[in-house]
Amino acid sequence: MSVNKSAKAIRKQFLTFFEEKKHKIVPSAPIVVKDDPTLMFINAGMNQFKDYFLGNKVAIDKKVADTQKCLRVSGKHNDLEEVGVDTYHHTLFEMLGNWSFGDYFKEEAIDWAWELLTEVYGIEKDRLYITIFEGNKEDGVALDEDARKIWSKHITNDRILPFDKTDNFWEMGDTGPCGPCSEIHVDLRSDEERAKQSGASLVNLDHPQVIEIWNLVFIEYNRKANGSLEELPDKHIDTGMGFERLVRAVQQKTSNYDTDVFMPYINTLEDLSKVTYGKVESTDIAFRVIADHIRAVSFAIADGQLPSNTGAGYVIRRILRRAVRYGYTFLGFEKAFFYKLVHVLVAEMGDVFPEVVKQESFLVNVIKEEENSFFKTLSIGISKLEKMKEGNMKAIDGKTAFELFDTFGFPLDLTQLIASEMSMSVDLDGFKAAMQVQKDRSKKAVEGSQGDWIELFHDEVEEFVGYDNLSADVKITRYREVDKKGQKLVHLVFNYTPFYAESGGQVGDTGYILDTEGTKTFIIDTQKENDLTIHIAKQCPVNEKSDFTAVINDSRRKDVEKNHSATHLLQSVLREFIGEHIEQRGSYVNDNYLRFDFSHFNKLSTEELTTIETKVNELIRANISLDEKRAIPITEAKDMGAMALFGEKYGDLVRVIKFGDSVEFCGGTHVGATGEIGLFKIIAESSIASGVRRIEALTGKKAFEYFSNKETELKEIQELLKAPKKTIGAIEKIIAENAVLTKKLEAVSLLKENACKETLKLEIEEDLNGINVIIRKVMLDSAESLKNITFQMQKEYDNIFLVLGAEINGKPMLSVALGEKPMKEHDFNAGKIIREIAKAIQGGGGGQVFYASAGGKKVEGLDEALDLARKMLAK
Ligand code: SER
Repeated sequence: MSVNKSAKAIRKQFLTFFEEKKHKIVPSAPIVVKDDPTLMFINAGMNQFKDYFLGNKVAIDKKVADTQKCLRVSGKHNDLEEVGVDTYHHTLFEMLGNWSFGDYFKEEAIDWAWELLTEVYGIEKDRLYITIFEGNKEDGVALDEDARKIWSKHITNDRILPFDKTDNFWEMGDTGPCGPCSEIHVDLRSDEERAKQSGASLVNLDHPQVIEIWNLVFIEYNRKANGSLEELPDKHIDTGMGFERLVRAVQQKTSNYDTDVFMPYINTLEDLSKVTYGKVESTDIAFRVIADHIRAVSFAIADGQLPSNTGAGYVIRRILRRAVRYGYTFLGFEKAFFYKLVHVLVAEMGDVFPEVVKQESFLVNVIKEEENSFFKTLSIGISKLEKMKEGNMKAIDGKTAFELFDTFGFPLDLTQLIASEMSMSVDLDGFKAAMQVQKDRSKKAVEGSQGDWIELFHDEVEEFVGYDNLSADVKITRYREVDKKGQKLVHLVFNYTPFYAESGGQVGDTGYILDTEGTKTFIIDTQKENDLTIHIAKQCPVNEKSDFTAVINDSRRKDVEKNHSATHLLQSVLREFIGEHIEQRGSYVNDNYLRFDFSHFNKLSTEELTTIETKVNELIRANISLDEKRAIPITEAKDMGAMALFGEKYGDLVRVIKFGDSVEFCGGTHVGATGEIGLFKIIAESSIASGVRRIEALTGKKAFEYFSNKETELKEIQELLKAPKKTIGAIEKIIAENAVLTKKLEAVSLLKENACKETLKLEIEEDLNGINVIIRKVMLDSAESLKNITFQMQKEYDNIFLVLGAEINGKPMLSVALGEKPMKEHDFNAGKIIREIAKAIQGGGGGQVFYASAGGKKVEGLDEALDLARKMLAK
């Protein structure tokens, strides 16, 4: 069969192949994970189907296939620092996968994989090797004889290689669904090399040309918290094939980067840098790093993760900085360039991932700003190193190298490179030690454990009834004990729940459950774990099997709803009055306030904010009724003009919330009509990242309290001013009077200063050495006057020894001035004198050799200070 070998065709063939085998083709889930505390980014195709394997949800479609964006930045082979150094690991990659949720099992999975690779893609059979699970005594699992038998229909036994648990037993995490797996490896070496050494001896040995392409996982066990395995009632298939590697195998290239998945980026970079790929290893690495990283950074931002200083945002910032500094060091870029690859990404991947097309200009702007600020950081870091060099330091200590890495984004090798150019070394052990300290710290921060679920009642589908009910009769279906940073908590799952679990920016409900004997257990928070609603309590109810009445804190929920609905109105008004480019980039609503983040490049002016506030309040007063569509087809919702959120996963049926012109996809809870919101008041507008602004606002009673507090404050001001009506006029009058008085005071001070100076001149004593001595207290109004007099006297008398003390605004001050003679001939130093004498006023100060001043706390000490000065002169 003749095959179109372009990457786009290869992707399409995969999906068509499984569609023809009755699989439903689903879109990739967003790469940024929202409802799974164990994960920051999607790292495998199966992540979005976790709930089916865990038994939390029943799959409607039992056979599914897709291409999933995955991001791996740590793990056995995916250390960020390694990506680009070799030719077949990536941060962002596409995982092609087919799934069976309790439908087909090993035989079909294996037969189809073989058919697709050898017949559709035409990969030569004698380049393929298969690995199977050799079994494990401890776990009581035998060699996967079934898999061996099925594979032997297609391939000779010498190409079916057993491997142990590390390679051929796939586990989702420390606990949860798992099972033996069977991997397909491909040997891409030349015929000559293959004749010399069998590929079988190179499988699983990190050989760059003998690589795994597809992993077929046979999920049949559940790993419990005590480490034991239990069989699952249903058996599932989870397969994952690295798209970039597959393309390389089909196109018979020796590097993933030589395929049309990556070459367009490399070609553009060649044009931009005027450097050629494929000539020098160090520059080639830079090309690969940048070509890889632009995909990770763009997709993460498109799915809602902006670069930042913490958590997932920090991971993205580090990837971006790594790309930029490779460009800087090896390709000669001295200003922002990385963002120029966004259009290549859009051209290459936009057909499959429309989110990057819709957000192209946003991606360009965010990346460019990030780059600009990193280039600034880079030069600060470099000047830090240059200072060390100027200080004649021979080595960069580990702490500084780590600070450069952690704060300035300098990878160790960059620091080493710059250091070697400056003939300095880097303390590697010190760097590793500092890195370890940080790792231990962050490990401690997430430390915690959770027990296995204990099932009390079997219930397949947990139902949320909280849109219509604030209480419900429930049963606890299962619970588990958790330890969260030393705090013991219990997670409860109910068959029905009125509790809204935190999601879509809306805080989780609190409340209680009441057993039949009247005992209450408080629910302190409600969170989501994938699609499971988890009620968090401090302890398990005593009668855990009782019937319960679950009751949420309804006044808190109502306050939350006011804020949530107001957020929708705010978004609609922003789009209408500021611009259609405004899109939600995050939001948070609780019972106290609302926070809405959106794409916009400029600060909103006071007039704009007033308009927005006014318009939102008009919509509130219009008392528009909620129009809720609970489960409508997504196409219908789109036809209604509903605003979808980037980075959000939507099913076939969606919920739509409409208040007049505001139409949004939303799973949250809302007021019945906008009038319930009562009042809307913006309290802050700020920037949270490049291109993203934040509005914080209050509604309902909090907004009322805000105005009420302001009114109280105003009344207090009016009372102070004794002007209950014309407050502003009264304040303007005070300001004007103040300006006149200040001027007058300045004139008086000057007179006083001059008078004081004249008096001082009359009091000059000449000592035995011919030095003009003045040591005395003066009466002055400001430190400024004291300084002026001291300076003037110093200028006028070149052999003066002047020490003045003054009480200014209740505080003691001293000043010292010296002329040439006392300094040069008698070795006096004003700085030293002041340090000595300031002790008497319990103060400190400093200055130069000819002038110094000090402030202190002890006014009574002024005389003593002056005495000390006199004694110093007498010595
Ligand atoms: N879950 C397996 C993996 O990630 C197969 O999809 O490799």
